[in-house]
Amino acid sequence: MDIIILPSADDAVALTVRIIEEQVRRRPESVLGLATGATMEDVYRSLVRAHLEDGLDFSQVTTFNLDEYVGLTHEDPRSYAAYMRRNLFDAAGIDESRGRLPDGAAADLTAECRAFEEAIRAAGGIDLQLLGIGRSGHIGFNEPMASPASRTRRVVLAPETLKQNGSYFGGAEHMPRLALTMGIGTIMESRRCLLLATGKEKSAVLAEAVEGPVRAMIPASALQAHPACTVICDEPAAAGLRQRAYYDWLFQHDPAWARFRLTTAPPGSGCREG
Ligand code: GLP
Repeated sequence: MDIIILPSADDAVALTVRIIEEQVRRRPESVLGLATGATMEDVYRSLVRAHLEDGLDFSQVTTFNLDEYVGLTHEDPRSYAAYMRRNLFDAAGIDESRGRLPDGAAADLTAECRAFEEAIRAAGGIDLQLLGIGRSGHIGFNEPMASPASRTRRVVLAPETLKQNGSYFGGAEHMPRLALTMGIGTIMESRRCLLLATGKEKSAVLAEAVEGPVRAMIPASALQAHPACTVICDEPAAAGLRQRAYYDWLFQHDPAWARFRLTTAPPGSGCREG
């Protein structure tokens, strides 16, 4: 796991965008795993800008979103499908046939989850999975006690998640209690994972996910066992990390990150293109 700590949220978003952009330019038919949440809005804004101004071409890309609320149709403005259309799909030219989310309004949710997994397989698997982290420690909607072997399925949302996302529904009491989510096992099969965490309200859970033991109570901790996972965070989100000097050391000395580093700043002060 690579932990990259950058001075600001803007820097963290910029690096995340750059990695996604490079992936799409290198392999125009890439399969991307996408996430929702406030943190990702800036990422999508930058990707749309890269599409409109720098010709970043999404026409051959296929995407799979992590999750969707049960009981909302994709037309519902509070659905993640609507979020994706608003923040990325419409402006980047990704139509419904290539921008797939689980359908939380499907009559048979088990069949829907199975079909979603099958579609990922048929697309050749996910090349790059973008992830946020919930304050409950969730990735996607894999809430505490989710099995590391879990697949796409229906889940119960944790009270902490209702609190965190309630404002989108006019209060936690109006939020769906159930969701469909890719499983941790599904996420772990992605060729590469990119977790973006910004802001001080993520610092405690990020420290547990990265430095705590791998345990079902903190679903994001499963990523410690992923063979190619990069965590990108800003200083406030990194505040709870005990080994940050070590992560900076690795980042400064790993040739794979050389072109992403600051050339003039002292070690540990983050990156900008050199
Ligand atoms: C939702 C999504 C998660 C995401 C989380 C982070 O709960 N289901 O996949 O990680 O939001 O949210 P935010 O970026 O708003 O903190």
